[in-house]
Amino acid sequence: MAFDIDMIKSVYSKIAERVDAAREVTGKPLTLAEKILYSHLWDGKTDKAFVRGKDYVDFAPDRIACQDATAQMALLQFMQAGKKTVAVPTTVHCDHLIQAKQGAAKDLKRANETSNEVFDFLESVSNKYGIGFWKPGAGIIHQVVLENYAFPGGMMIGTDSHTVNAGGLGMVAIGVGGADAVDVMAGMPWELKFPKLIGVKLTGELNGWTASKDVILKVAGILTVKGGTGAIVEYFGPGARNLSATGKGTICNMGAEIGATTSTFGYDESMERFLRATDRSDVADAANEIKEYLTGDDEVYANPEQYFDQVIEINLSELRPHLNGPFTPDLATPVGELGKKAKENDWPLKVDWGLIGSCTNSSYEDLSRAASIAQQAIDKKLKPKSDFGINPGSEQIRFTAERDGLLEVFENLGATIFTNACGPCIGQWDRSDRKGDEKNTIVHSFNRNFSKRADGNPNTHAFVGSPEMVAAIAISGRLDFDPMNDTLLNEDGQEVKLDVPVGLELPPEGFAVDENGYLAPTEDGSSVEVKVASDSERLQLLTPFEPIQDSELKNVKLLIKAFGKCTTDHISMAGPWLRYRGHLDNISNNCLIGAVNAYNKKTNFVKNQLTGEYGGVPDTQREYKAKGIKTIVVGDHNYGEGSSREHAAMEPRFLGVAAVLVKSFARIHETNLKKQGMLALTFANENDYDLIQEDDTFNFVDIENFAPDTPLTIEVTHADGSKDTIKANHTYNDAQITWYREGSALNLIKKQNA
Ligand code: F3S
Repeated sequence: MAFDIDMIKSVYSKIAERVDAAREVTGKPLTLAEKILYSHLWDGKTDKAFVRGKDYVDFAPDRIACQDATAQMALLQFMQAGKKTVAVPTTVHCDHLIQAKQGAAKDLKRANETSNEVFDFLESVSNKYGIGFWKPGAGIIHQVVLENYAFPGGMMIGTDSHTVNAGGLGMVAIGVGGADAVDVMAGMPWELKFPKLIGVKLTGELNGWTASKDVILKVAGILTVKGGTGAIVEYFGPGARNLSATGKGTICNMGAEIGATTSTFGYDESMERFLRATDRSDVADAANEIKEYLTGDDEVYANPEQYFDQVIEINLSELRPHLNGPFTPDLATPVGELGKKAKENDWPLKVDWGLIGSCTNSSYEDLSRAASIAQQAIDKKLKPKSDFGINPGSEQIRFTAERDGLLEVFENLGATIFTNACGPCIGQWDRSDRKGDEKNTIVHSFNRNFSKRADGNPNTHAFVGSPEMVAAIAISGRLDFDPMNDTLLNEDGQEVKLDVPVGLELPPEGFAVDENGYLAPTEDGSSVEVKVASDSERLQLLTPFEPIQDSELKNVKLLIKAFGKCTTDHISMAGPWLRYRGHLDNISNNCLIGAVNAYNKKTNFVKNQLTGEYGGVPDTQREYKAKGIKTIVVGDHNYGEGSSREHAAMEPRFLGVAAVLVKSFARIHETNLKKQGMLALTFANENDYDLIQEDDTFNFVDIENFAPDTPLTIEVTHADGSKDTIKANHTYNDAQITWYREGSALNLIKKQNA
């Protein structure tokens, strides 16, 4: 059904040789991260040492995982590649589009009604192209991946930032944009800047109220939300071996909150136990045979300062439980010190909700430890002061937790069991006690707690903690409650204290599931029809982009000169627009509406050179498109920074923008523009940005000679007839120029497959 043991064995068969070769070329012992990276080079040639934080390297990931929101455009694009099946094993998981409101059964039914066309599309396209499909309600992508697909020493990419969760089973698993996933699905390499390495040495052992979650809450406090940027965080040491595999998953999951490329742990007995418990003894057996290649070299861990770019040490025996927040996951406060901080900052002490679950913390161990606290509330006659909501991570977890009576414990406290899906973690939460302007506090075991993340309300103060701590705080109803020292008054008026949580790493009777929600693709999908209604407003099949002809670049109009910061959010806004992420025409109505027009400092208000009138950017651009006139977007520094969403490149391309000329690019966006067959250019002389005027027309005089390492010349004609000639640099190599000439990278792949 799920994992592909032959693929895993094939990866393992190459590891030893490649790792040994990598040790040779680098002249040093290797970290686990390096072993995985060097054994997944695209060309398989381990003959060069890469410079961390500098070299861009092509990799060959083993797997791809996509969630339902980001999969839509990724798969619509993949369909353009002309392939019969995906080139590497891929799965799609329906978890983001299910709103939490009344409880699992009703919520799932509603989601199946409101998003059925998206689910139908994803199911049919998966079936056609050999992609495993996990139905709505089957579970949250990262928990399902951990239970079914993750394997020690593997490399995976996924169209979700918390793909990194699979580091809990010793993978290098990285969240990417849809465009990257499409490349790999289509058989192309995946490029990554060779990451820096941060080592976290764990000593001691968790005890009492402290959980795996507290390790990453502490690390987030140390490194902050940017501290891990461009780096892989590798955990090691005796403390690491004492953590469960799912606990390791929690730690890796929240590595996304410190900006890390990913996080990972070396293969150990906890991983072996988890693999065997999830019916993958053959993976465990295969891993055991090459154990030493699935963890960092002894010498690295003995002298970490010598081999990592940064080293942090945490003694788990001394670690205290934390609650991080509000509004940022790196504001770490040990439980017990939060009351003072809350009073100083005027954060509401009353807690309205305790939410347990999400991809971060919904393992059997998590639920059993939290349930042990919930059971105490019943036994000690404590009536919870907050509402409880539970999101199990998968149907397998839910079924097993129900069988073992864990869910009943929560239900006895009045908890709502939501669907096995993201729900409140991604703002898919129709909160029953909807709060308006009033400040309010919630605690949850999720990963992100930015403003509005859970319920869309900027007045909600969300704090992140372990599931057991969330349970305790929710029972007390107070943010300043410290279960290690404080007592609570029960229904008989007695003061009672909560005992430390107890839990089970794995279900003693094993995991069980009735219907796990997985649909395997058909053997031969050639006759499967992809379901997209022609009148759908959420989905639209793509039409290949036509190559931009040199002749079209003689009378190019300025669409907008963007002033200051122009991120991918400014280019393709999120929020309500995400509803249209599978419909390029409809979502293009948000194209550049957040960019500030340099001439009037307004957003979405640009001059239409054909009429002299001012209007919105998409409307104006559509008028140029209707007349067959190509346009150019001019921008400032780091244009296109932010998320890697491919819509930010596809929308301007779809609407007829031919070129983007800026002082500098955010690299991923620059590559995305190239992939869509556009010109991504930078001013050879930055000051030329100031020459560009509102009524300018551009003539790409030497586009016929577009070649690597050769700047392009652009003649700019101003309204008064005067002209300036400017030079535009670019970073296109030969292959990328072919993408441009063919109209897009996918057009080229299609041609090669024809
Ligand atoms: Fe879903 Fe939240 Fe994880 S949105 S994938 S549960 S981070």
